[in-house]
Amino acid sequence: MTKIGSRYVAVSVDGAVGVLTLNRPDVLNALNRELMQELVAELERMDRDDAVKVLVITGNDKAFAAGADIREMADESAVSLLLKRQFDVWDRIGGIAKPIIAAVSGYVLGGGCELMMNCDLVVASDTARFGQPEIRIGVMPGAGGTQRLTRAVGQRKAMELLLTGDAMPAEEALRCGLINKVAPVELYLEEALKLARRIANQPPLAVALIKQAVRKAQDLSLAEGLDFERQYFHLLFASEDQKEGMLAFQEKRSPQFKGR
Ligand code: CAA
Repeated sequence: MTKIGSRYVAVSVDGAVGVLTLNRPDVLNALNRELMQELVAELERMDRDDAVKVLVITGNDKAFAAGADIREMADESAVSLLLKRQFDVWDRIGGIAKPIIAAVSGYVLGGGCELMMNCDLVVASDTARFGQPEIRIGVMPGAGGTQRLTRAVGQRKAMELLLTGDAMPAEEALRCGLINKVAPVELYLEEALKLARRIANQPPLAVALIKQAVRKAQDLSLAEGLDFERQYFHLLFASEDQKEGMLAFQEKRSPQFKGR
């Protein structure tokens, strides 16, 4: 395992899995602008690294992240926020081609929950609590919370969480479809890595196009989405991995995918 990283984000590579660990434990991983810049720069760097197939974002057992940094925001004005364009960096997460798994524990609040919802899959510890408490400090989510939470859990549950600021426990989040899996706190990261390794063994072009097609389903009509799906399906027949996958099936052996 090689370890690199920046001030607020520790980075390691474990086989074909890149792990990015949020590292501001003193403030429950509050997401200041510098942390977000570093995180997205590392995600983009690993997205370009052919040796890395799947990305995992995690925090620590006590907090994935307790939201955007309130101290940093407290004195902002509408104009200063507009000029800083601080959410531009969040939008770049949507441009990452490789699957991103969030491995979360403890506080997953505000911007922390929004960051998690920007990921493709979520493995949570049984201590995780999810919420959008912005209303309690006089504001509302600004990094997608009202939109992505509503799409994930439906209007009624989203309205309840957003208007009360209450956090929901991991088992409830699982039932609501907000997350994929719950594991004991000692095991959630390992479970996320297991899932990452499984996906890392899949044909990379199919992985990338499936990710894109599923994300488009959030934005497009069914007819438009089906059109994209069909084009992507046809496109995969230009790949060596399609030939190899179907030949290996017929020869009753494991396929050797190359990402071409
Ligand atoms: N921003 C900045 N600092 C934070 C923080 C945040 N979001 N969350 C926690 N901290 C800091 C605390 O100020 C405290 O620092 P000090 O030790 O220097 O005082 C430290 O982290 C530990 O926090 P607590 O002492 O409060 O820990 P606790 O266990 O008693 O409570 C908590 C934990 C319930 C998560 C509480 O810290 C809390 O309510 N945090 C704020 C949650 C929140 O409102 N998040 C939304 C932020 S706005 C947002 O995210 C907007 C957006 O859409 C992008």
